[in-house]
Amino acid sequence: MVQESPVVLGVSGGIAAYKAVELLRNLRESGIDVVVVPTANALRFVGAPTWEALSGRPVATDVWANTHQVPHVRLGQQARAVVVAPATADLLARAVSGIADDLLTNTLLTASCPVIMAPAMHTEMWQHPATQRNVHILRERGVVVLEPAVGRLTGTDSGPGRLADPSAIAHAVRDVLRRRPRPDLAGLRVLISAGGTREAWDPVRFIGNRSSGRQGIELARTAISRGAQVTLVAAAIEVEPPAGALVVRVESAEDLRSAMHAHAQDADVIVMAAAVADFRPADIASGKIKKSNADGVPELLLERTADVLAELVVKRGSATSPLIVGFAAETARDSEDLFALGQEKLARKGCDLLVVNDVAAHEVFGSTHNSVLILGAATSPVLLDRLPKEEIADALWDTVRDRITAR
Ligand code: CTP
Repeated sequence: MVQESPVVLGVSGGIAAYKAVELLRNLRESGIDVVVVPTANALRFVGAPTWEALSGRPVATDVWANTHQVPHVRLGQQARAVVVAPATADLLARAVSGIADDLLTNTLLTASCPVIMAPAMHTEMWQHPATQRNVHILRERGVVVLEPAVGRLTGTDSGPGRLADPSAIAHAVRDVLRRRPRPDLAGLRVLISAGGTREAWDPVRFIGNRSSGRQGIELARTAISRGAQVTLVAAAIEVEPPAGALVVRVESAEDLRSAMHAHAQDADVIVMAAAVADFRPADIASGKIKKSNADGVPELLLERTADVLAELVVKRGSATSPLIVGFAAETARDSEDLFALGQEKLARKGCDLLVVNDVAAHEVFGSTHNSVLILGAATSPVLLDRLPKEEIADALWDTVRDRITAR
């Protein structure tokens, strides 16, 4: 049997190093061979015996150990992927400038495989222009830099800068390993809406829809593993967002509209996968509508919401960027009818690509599979029949990438 080359887990010197232990276990449990390369500072937080026992391999930090094996070039050359978790502000800066003063930074310079970084640091350090610039440069080079999570930090403070959840980082690593040798969406800034909006009627009731958010979440996950920088505007979703996306939570169609407009100017691609309400209660009762107070049953008067997709197309005007992708839920008689309904909606919405779902034919909502038709003004239709939502997502990104490259 051919031995698969290992994944290098680089650990830099931050308190979140203890969470990399969980990441290591998770990767090992899915059968991935891991070589741990902690920095000298990382060993102050978690000692070598822990890494060695859990990885089943010796660890080294400097380039002077086992020099006969030339570890400073061999590890990077042979790795299937390098994942650095946590990646401190200092590690990001050293990676950007090509400093190679220990085994981990040497490995980063010699790695031609995919590289994933999961930053962790205090909010001030994460938001500092120096760090943001370093992250930008790394992404441009094709490094998959996961957005840190928002939450409690080492002290009493909280904000963005927490290491992403170890099991979600492991998921991202497995996604990257399954995909292309090099991320092909590197440098692309993607804005995705997902899930179903909820329109309040009173403080306890709302009008919602059956969207689970799964397709939008798969789009975010696959885009991250292909190197894109992802902002996910999430309405009600039944699945956890992937590690590495900047997640903006929204509830109503109006919240979603504001969030999409706020982030649209920084996007190269916008995907409207959310099921946005077309109607909302015209009045929201300030107190709970009590059945004892209602005379018979209360009447619910609805009003139209704004069409966010159409607004984003108008806002873009005659510019070619961002590329805008819409989704369409249709109940069609047959495939010809689906195609006709899709073409009509594509023309009406004015977006570049439209992903048409036949919601009558299959169990779409909440299902892990989907059947869709991808339509575009200047492209031949792509029919994807009963495929996992992940494969649908990959096929859509292939189409998007080809459209952007052709511009
Ligand atoms: N959409 C939107 N704002 C809305 C409603 C829908 O941005 N208020 C977006 C969806 O996110 C999707 C696309 O428009 O990308 C199409 O949604 P769909 O519900 O299929 O189309 P409608 O415009 O609602 O058309 P119809 O009701 O005629 O099917």
